[in-house]
Amino acid sequence: MNMRDNSIQALVDAERLQNGSILRGDPISGDRYYSKEFARKEWDHVFTRTWQIGGTVAQLEKPGSVITQAIGEESILITRADDGVIRAFYNVCPHRGNRLVAEDQKCGVKRMVCAYHSWTFSLDGVVRHVRDAEDYPQGNPIGNMKLVEIRCETLGALVWFNMDDKAPSLREYLGVAADIFEQYQTGSWVRVNWLTGLVDCNWKIIHDNFNEAYHILSLHREIGPFINDAYQDTDFQLYKSGHNLMKMQGGVPSANARHSVVPDELAGILREWEIDPEAFGGRVRETRAALQQQKRKLGPARGHTHYDHLSDEQLTDYHHLTVFPNTTLTMAADFFQVLRPLPHPSDPERCYFDHWVFMPPVEGRDEVDTPLGKRRFEQAEHESFLHGEASIGFVADQDLSVAIAQQKGLHSRGYKDAYLTGQEERVRRLHEVINDYIEGRR
Ligand code: FES
Ligand SMILES: [Fe+2]
Repeated sequence: MNMRDNSIQALVDAERLQNGSILRGDPISGDRYYSKEFARKEWDHVFTRTWQIGGTVAQLEKPGSVITQAIGEESILITRADDGVIRAFYNVCPHRGNRLVAEDQKCGVKRMVCAYHSWTFSLDGVVRHVRDAEDYPQGNPIGNMKLVEIRCETLGALVWFNMDDKAPSLREYLGVAADIFEQYQTGSWVRVNWLTGLVDCNWKIIHDNFNEAYHILSLHREIGPFINDAYQDTDFQLYKSGHNLMKMQGGVPSANARHSVVPDELAGILREWEIDPEAFGGRVRETRAALQQQKRKLGPARGHTHYDHLSDEQLTDYHHLTVFPNTTLTMAADFFQVLRPLPHPSDPERCYFDHWVFMPPVEGRDEVDTPLGKRRFEQAEHESFLHGEASIGFVADQDLSVAIAQQKGLHSRGYKDAYLTGQEERVRRLHEVINDYIEGRR
């Protein structure tokens, strides 16, 4: 363990809730997934007060870049103006309330012009032109009015916003989750998949799913050969902040299955790193350490310079950071994913599910394997669709395969509360932290 790992461990120890004192046992009742009244409370007390990802820094690389991010009933507008500053605003024209920018992203923008009466704004949000400026009894808006600005910060490859003026800074909000994320040095990573699906379930059905790995053996049998989903070997860390981390071993088969020889899928990964899988007959559980050593040895020469910043376990393992309330960052040595359900503007029984995949630049890389197959190594265009009409990635499709049936089941008079395993404690924890926000404890 090097010094940086030691200091992160100290932060983890300070922020981590210790077993036994974690959960109150608040019921996870069905109405939380379909009641409009409850969804309104979540909007007023949770989503409008917490940090949310608005896009990527790469989208805003140059002055003149404009992006929008829909969340619930809002659209957030994020710009980089000529002064180089990245700012976020509500995407609404102060004249009569028309939505100002319709597109997901634009570049080379000099002015933003409202489609209704042509009020014109510079990218710092200031009104620069209106027709009949002398005909405003309350005063000429030019130079005097601007879009309503909200908090905006960047971390690694991601741009974040917060609608609450009184919120802590992003780093303060994320706590040790920010330090863990920063170890991967994602600033230059490229978003190779940018997918959004409209799904007929409440946002928490999807996020609950990412808060446990108990379903892996049922829904994702294909990943068992190279991911160890056994809870006894998995480190679940719940932080006081409401965020949490699940460290799951990779480069080794599931301890829930018995393998006397290395399964094919893992053998392929070992061969990529010049390790002979045959040598591990009868000692299959040793592949993870061997892979770590080999990635450490060969990685830099193969262009994986970011490995220097990662611990041995990070070279093979999956560190799932769940950022309260609705964001999962699945961190791995060779990719990271944003898995994020967002509340629907009006229907608590629907949500938008974002699945973004980022990969680091590696010399000579022009094509990459992504959850949607081979893609060029370049910034992806946005693909949006109705759930079921197209794949949102193989594993995510499997996760969503039960979402609609669960949404229906939660309406049943026969369902009162979840009956959880210990390894699913992060599921109840999410609901309890939501209650903390709604009931004024945070
Ligand atoms: S609503 Fe935007 S110019 Fe009138
Ligand atoms: Fe899953």
